[in-house]
Amino acid sequence: MSGDLQVNKILGAVLATGLVIMGVKLGAEAIYHREAPEKAGYHIEVADTGGEGGAAAAVDTPPDWGTVIPTADIAAGEKTFQTKCTSCHNNANGGPNAIGPNLWGVVGRPVASHPGMDYSDAMKAHAKEVPNWSWDAIYAFLGAPSKVVKGTKMTFVGVKKPEDRINLIAYLHSQGSTGYAVPAPNPAAASEGAAASPAAAEAASK
Ligand code: HEC
Repeated sequence: MSGDLQVNKILGAVLATGLVIMGVKLGAEAIYHREAPEKAGYHIEVADTGGEGGAAAAVDTPPDWGTVIPTADIAAGEKTFQTKCTSCHNNANGGPNAIGPNLWGVVGRPVASHPGMDYSDAMKAHAKEVPNWSWDAIYAFLGAPSKVVKGTKMTFVGVKKPEDRINLIAYLHSQGSTGYAVPAPNPAAASEGAAASPAAAEAASK
């Protein structure tokens, strides 16, 4: 009898110990599980580091070209071109392709059309959707090249600031694209785009 009691006591102690261990384990798991979602939810944002904020790019509506082009700062646009584009692009009339295609007359030009340039498949596919570098098309592309043409060979973060991009496009237009018409001003349409109106208003007030 007393032997059985002894056994029961030992079993009881073992069970109690087991429960304590289980309790500790469960507690520990609860702690780990609470940490786990934090790690799973943590991811690194790479794409938007070069800009002034990814949110701005998402609502980057083109300006009213008829309003902003006549008042754009072409000299400022040329400076942007010299500092950001000439490492990969030549833009002389009849000049060569470099890492990127020659950009003489690029505004309004058919996409992926410069002779001798080995365009990426992504850019060739883009040409089927967007046939030419219209004002809006080049504005979107130069704002975030790899977002607008996923897989493009143009490894360039983009010109984020609308005003800088407008000046740059005005400069590109002056280099062999003057035959591509500037549309008539239509400020009412521009004010529909919240992101465009400050730039347009600023340009118009110059
Ligand atoms: C690191 C090199 C590099 C830089 C810097 C660069 N580009 Fe490009 N660009 C390219 C390449 C390469 C292509 C061809 C892309 C493809 O085929 O996917 C290209 C294509 C283009 C196109 C399309 C032309 C066409 O014929 O369809 C335009 C427009 C353009 N670039 C403008 C610019 C402007 C403006 C700048 C400066 C703000 C610039 N690029 C900076 C390499 C560059």
